[in-house]
Amino acid sequence: MCGIVGYIGKKDVRNLLLEGLKRLEYRGYDSSGLVVFSPTGFNVIKRIGRVAKLVEATSKNSAKGTLGISHTRWATHGGVTESNTHPHVSSDGKIAMVHNGVIENYVEMKKFLEIKGFSFSSETDSEALSNLIAYHYAKEKEDGEDTSRFFTAVRKALSHVEGTYGIAVTCVDYPDELIGARKGSPLILGVGKGEYILASDESAIITHTSNVVYLDDNEMVSMSRDGFRVVSAADEGIDPVINTIDWNIEDSEKGKFEHYMLKEIFEQPAALENAMRGRFSDDGSTAIFGGLNLTPRELRQIDRLLFTSCGTAWHSCLVAEYLIERYARIPVEVEYASELRYRNAPLDKNTLVFVVTQSGETIDTLGALREAQRRGYRTLAITNGVGSTIAREADGGIYQHAGPEVGVASTKAFTSQLLIVAMLALYLGRLRDMSYTDGAEMVKALRSVPNLVRETLKQDQHIKAIAAKYAGYADFLFLGRQAMFPIALEGALKLKEISYIHAEGYPAAEMKHGPIALICEECPSVFIATGGEIFQKVLSNIQEVKARKGKVILIHSKSCEVPDGLVDDTIIIPDAADSVMPILATVPLQLLSYYIAVERGCDVDKPRNLAKSVTVE
Ligand code: M6R
Repeated sequence: MCGIVGYIGKKDVRNLLLEGLKRLEYRGYDSSGLVVFSPTGFNVIKRIGRVAKLVEATSKNSAKGTLGISHTRWATHGGVTESNTHPHVSSDGKIAMVHNGVIENYVEMKKFLEIKGFSFSSETDSEALSNLIAYHYAKEKEDGEDTSRFFTAVRKALSHVEGTYGIAVTCVDYPDELIGARKGSPLILGVGKGEYILASDESAIITHTSNVVYLDDNEMVSMSRDGFRVVSAADEGIDPVINTIDWNIEDSEKGKFEHYMLKEIFEQPAALENAMRGRFSDDGSTAIFGGLNLTPRELRQIDRLLFTSCGTAWHSCLVAEYLIERYARIPVEVEYASELRYRNAPLDKNTLVFVVTQSGETIDTLGALREAQRRGYRTLAITNGVGSTIAREADGGIYQHAGPEVGVASTKAFTSQLLIVAMLALYLGRLRDMSYTDGAEMVKALRSVPNLVRETLKQDQHIKAIAAKYAGYADFLFLGRQAMFPIALEGALKLKEISYIHAEGYPAAEMKHGPIALICEECPSVFIATGGEIFQKVLSNIQEVKARKGKVILIHSKSCEVPDGLVDDTIIIPDAADSVMPILATVPLQLLSYYIAVERGCDVDKPRNLAKSVTVE
C-alpha cells in the first residue's frame, strides 16, 4: 500500500524514480509525486491520478539531480488531492519526506507543531512527521550538533511516532545523504556500486541491482554515494545482511499479454511446477519441506492447526481445512487475520499456526502472526514473498516460488497456495495414517496438475465467449460444496474486485436458506461441481435455481453427467483427483472474471480503490 522509491548515486534521478514508481504503481495509484534534489534545492512535482500523469508533468520540468525521493499513493488520511500527495515538504522548507503507513498520533503531533510555529498544507498524517523531523532538525542546531544533525533529527522524531511507517527523507542542507526507516511498513535497500535505492519492494530495484538489504522494524539506514550504514532505534550499528533477489526483470514484464492478470493466469503451470520442484521424497510417496524447522516427531505432537490470512489467501486456508482434515485427519481452524489479532481466542497448547500470504507484508496477517508468537505459539508461513517481513518473522515456512505477481487480483499465487496446502495435507497425512500406496497416488495426482491446468487453459476462448454473454449483469451468485465452496468464494471475490459486479459466494446447499431470494432472470449463478458423491445434490440445487428462471453457468469435470438442457452454459475441466480439483476449478473462474472485466472496460490490473499489498489496518 503506497509505493516508495528513493535514490542516491550518480544517475539522473528523475527517470530512475519514475521508472521505479511505474513498477510500484500496483501498490497504490491515487496520486504520485517526487522530489529531485537539484543544485537549487528541492524540486517538487505532484499529480493526481496514475503515474503516467506525473511522467507527463515531469517531462516539462528541467530539474536535474542524483538524489531524490518519490511516492505513489493509496489514500488513507485525506482525499485524493495534489496537496495530500507525497512528498511532503516541512513548512520551513528543510525536510522532504515520503511515507507509507499510518501515523496514529498525528493529531497531537500537529497541535504541538502548530504551537511551535509549523504550518500544514495537507490533511495527511504524513505531513506531521515531516514537520516533526524539521522541528528536531532545528532543535539540534540550537543544541550545537552538526554532522549527524539530519540523522539525529529523523531518529528523534521517529521515537515519538505511534503507528507504522516506511519513509524516505532528504534534508535541503544534506545533498549527499538519503535516510530511510521502517516500522510495520516494508522498506528494502538496493545496494549498487556507488548508488543506493530505497524502495517498498524489489520490483523497483531489480533493474539496477539484485543485491538487497531487507530492513527490519525500528531500523534506520543512512546512505551517501560512498556507502551506507544501518542502525537500530537505539542508535546501535547493525551488520546488514546482503541478500540476492532470485528473479529477473523479464519475470515482472507483461510480455505479449494485454494485462498482467492474464499473463499470470497463463503462468500457472510454471508456477505450480516451481512450487513442487524438489519437494517430493525419492520414493515418491510423500512431500518434503526444507523450511518447516520442525522434526516429524514435533509435528506428531501437534493436534490442531490454525490457518489465518486475508482475502484470497484466506480462501486458500479454507481449502487447507478441507484437504488437511480429509487426508491428514488433523482438525483445522481458519480465521481472518484481522479478527484473530484482536480476538482472545483460546488455543490449545499443541496448536500450530500457519499464516498464508502472497506478499508476506499484509499488516493484518503480520499482526496475527505476532500475536500468535507473543502467546508462545510456533508459527509457519506459506508465502511468495522471499525476504518479506512475514517470511523473516515466522518460525519457519514454505516458499511458493510463484514468481512476482503484479496484477492486483491474485491468480497464480492462489493456485500455488492451493497446491502447497495439498502437499502439506499429504506430508502430514503420511506422518499419521496415510499408507505408502495412498501417498504415492497423491504424489502422482499432484505432479499431474501443471499439465491439467495447461489443458484447462485451452478453454480460454470458450470462456471469453461466455463472459461476453454475461458481462452486462449486475449481480452474480457463486455456488459450490465442500472444497468447492472456498473456490466459489474466490470466484465471487475475483469478479467483484476487477469488474465491480456485486457477487456472493455460498455453499450451494445453503442457498435455500436466504440467497435463493435473489434468484431471478437478472441474477446468474455460477455452480462449481466436480463430481463425487455430492454431485447429484448440486444438480438438485441447480434445479432449484432453474425453477426460478435463474441462468446457470456450470463448471464441471469431464466425466460428470449433466442432464441435457439443465444449464445455460458449461465449462468442462479435466477429470482429476479431489486433492487437485480446487486448482483446476479456479482457472475458469479467473478467466471468466478477467474477460467480464475486460468486456466492461475495467482497468483489470489496477482495480478501483484496491492495492496489491495491504500494509495499513
Ligand atoms: O499478500 P496477501 O496474500 O497477504 O494479500 C491478501 C489479500 O490482500 C489479497 O489476497 C487480496 O484479497 C487480493 N486482491 C485478492 O485478489
